[in-house]
Amino acid sequence: MQPWLLEPGCRYLNHGSFGACPRPVLEAQRGVQERMEANPMRFFLRELEPGLDRARAAVGALVGARPGDLVFVPNATHAVNAVLRSFPLSPGDELVALDQSYPACLNALRFAAGERGARVALARVPFPLASADQVVAAVLAALGPRTRLALLDHVTSPTGLVLPLERLVPELEGRGVACLVDGAHALGMLPLALDRLGASYYTANAHKWLCAPKGAAILHVRADRQAGVRPLAISHGAGAPRADRGRFLAEFDWVGTDDPSPYLVLPECIAWLQGLDPGGLAGLQARNHALVLAGRRRLLTALGLPPPCPEEMLGALASVPLPPAPGAVAPGPLGLDGLQGALAARGFEVPVFPWPAPPARVLRISAQAYNSLEDYALLAAALGACLAAERGGAR
Ligand SMILES: Cc1ncc(COP(=O)(O)O)c(C=O)c1O
Repeated sequence: MQPWLLEPGCRYLNHGSFGACPRPVLEAQRGVQERMEANPMRFFLRELEPGLDRARAAVGALVGARPGDLVFVPNATHAVNAVLRSFPLSPGDELVALDQSYPACLNALRFAAGERGARVALARVPFPLASADQVVAAVLAALGPRTRLALLDHVTSPTGLVLPLERLVPELEGRGVACLVDGAHALGMLPLALDRLGASYYTANAHKWLCAPKGAAILHVRADRQAGVRPLAISHGAGAPRADRGRFLAEFDWVGTDDPSPYLVLPECIAWLQGLDPGGLAGLQARNHALVLAGRRRLLTALGLPPPCPEEMLGALASVPLPPAPGAVAPGPLGLDGLQGALAARGFEVPVFPWPAPPARVLRISAQAYNSLEDYALLAAALGACLAAERGGAR
């Protein structure tokens, strides 16, 4: 049976916004939920913590992290909020983010700064761009004497750029600037080595490129920062200290009664993805990378444009600049451009972002195991037709 539930007739080219979860993983999740309902007391009191530890071990092995430094949260937005709300800030301190940072997380940053009289400075990351040096220069130029924390998107949402973290993190942490890496897209898309990277905080969604059920993400906190990080919901773990585990795990592992099945099936999820390619997950990542590059080439040829960034700066997402939008575009994380709707009406789920600001815009493609080169060839043709219709309508 086809493992993906994606509906026939839909060319799904937006794994980046909402990843598809395969049937075997959903079946494993259903099994966990049935066990939970068979005896909720046994499940929550005696099975949950060992299950979370099992999942932590599997994810830790995948991302190069000590399991004790990893906790689960429902999504990257939640993790970014938990870190920022916990982070010590004084009036006049500065926080840095990218102008390409995910808008919801930028809101969280501005909220945390506003509550405590801190300032937000944005690093202007150009797109199109010629090299990773421009990203490093943009981030360093945004630092000031009072910069305490930098929010760095590992893979930028509007443009799919993979940030040169191996250069940025040591440089910033060395200057006393805590790095909060928003790796929402990175887990499953890119090889990760979190302990080696050395960022103070790193969060990633499992429900995007790891294809986990919705509501599964990780937060990795470096050991020396863990004492200060509290979950958004204070619950049992804040009470008497436990002999067998630290407060970091105790607090995040229980934030009230909820359905933890998305976390508990992560070992099954990783094993399933590893089995998709003879080269394991690394093989799948290489395949997705090659496919998105081939798809990008099709689109660039159709649009008559040069590559807007080097191929080495991409993972499994890629954006291409489009002619300006003819009408008003409401800003929003998923874009509300009429072109996106026109492509959806032709059966293509693909986002058009008003980037860097309307009327400028980009179209972003994703490449996941269920995509093929034909998807992008047909998209290029449909895009041409939609843009021609737009030009006709604008006259
Ligand atoms: C860079 C980035 N950060 C954070 C998020 C938010 O993810 P979630 O809604 O799962 O919290 C996204 C979603 O697309 C994203 O692209």
